[in-house]
Amino acid sequence: MIRRGGRRGGVVAAGLLTGALLGLGFPAPARADPEADRIGFRSYFQQRFPDVPAEAWIDGMYAIDEGARQQWQEIEDFPPYEFTVEEGQALFQDPFGDGRSYGDCFPDAGRGIRQRYPRFDSETGEVETLEVAINGCRARHGEPALSYDSKEMLALTAWIAYASRGRPMAVEVPDDARALAAYEEGKRFYYTKRGRLDMACVDCHGRYAGAFIRGDHLSASLGHPTHFPVYRLKLGGMVSLHKRFHGCIRDVGAEPFDEQSREFRRLEYFLTYMSNGLEANGPAVRK
Ligand code: HEC
Repeated sequence: MIRRGGRRGGVVAAGLLTGALLGLGFPAPARADPEADRIGFRSYFQQRFPDVPAEAWIDGMYAIDEGARQQWQEIEDFPPYEFTVEEGQALFQDPFGDGRSYGDCFPDAGRGIRQRYPRFDSETGEVETLEVAINGCRARHGEPALSYDSKEMLALTAWIAYASRGRPMAVEVPDDARALAAYEEGKRFYYTKRGRLDMACVDCHGRYAGAFIRGDHLSASLGHPTHFPVYRLKLGGMVSLHKRFHGCIRDVGAEPFDEQSREFRRLEYFLTYMSNGLEANGPAVRK
């Protein structure tokens, strides 16, 4: 009883946060219901951009910027992440010291698994991202953890993304109070204003999606997690989704969290659930 009451309290708080956005047309679900959230999230963008099909948002700002899209497609024809994907495949198949390899840790030898991450791990009660699962696999086979921004980690996630292209995102929030709480926390993070600019993710990637900022169109959050890791032309290298979270939080003048922190894993859980049904299409190129 007490636990249920407590959870309702949390939901009320989240409802108020989303309620504050009602003026923007963002849905304010009455209770914790990820599927209702997802439908509302998607229809928000569909109503604001009736000419942009939901599926198109997996290409970020290129869904709405025709001129930039043409240039981008030319780059995607000879993608700068190609070598990274090949390197990732080789690493994935490389045997560990005990003779096993990553394929032993993942279903279908690691092909077509990206769309299921992040997942809720009922043993640890935590959100497990693909990166955490990769390090978990290494630990089980006696290998040291990879740092989350290492070339190896980015190559492995790039190959797994590539081998999962075309699968619809299918993240699950199981019927477990802990999973729902993790999801709700991620959602709250998304709607919370922070930093000197006092802005939330939803401000730039919801309310102002489509607006022009520093020479770029702001993309919608819908479709954000489908295409990572990303090769950034500006940096000349691959970046993870959490690195992007990090950059956006720093840009509003707030203190970012670490890659794979609990906060970022939960944010990813919420955001990826919102993109369920859209195609996995990583890796990708961005400015
Ligand atoms: C002040 C505005 C602003 C805020 C607030 C903001 N971002 Fe961004 N974000 C940007 C800009 C600008 C870009 C680059 C253009 C684009 O792709 O939208 C970007 C890009 C991204 C991308 C990469 C998009 C792609 O297609 O690969 C992700 C993911 C992202 N932001 C997530 C977030 C999250 C999560 C939050 C909240 C923690 C957030 N952003 C808050 C401005 C913002």
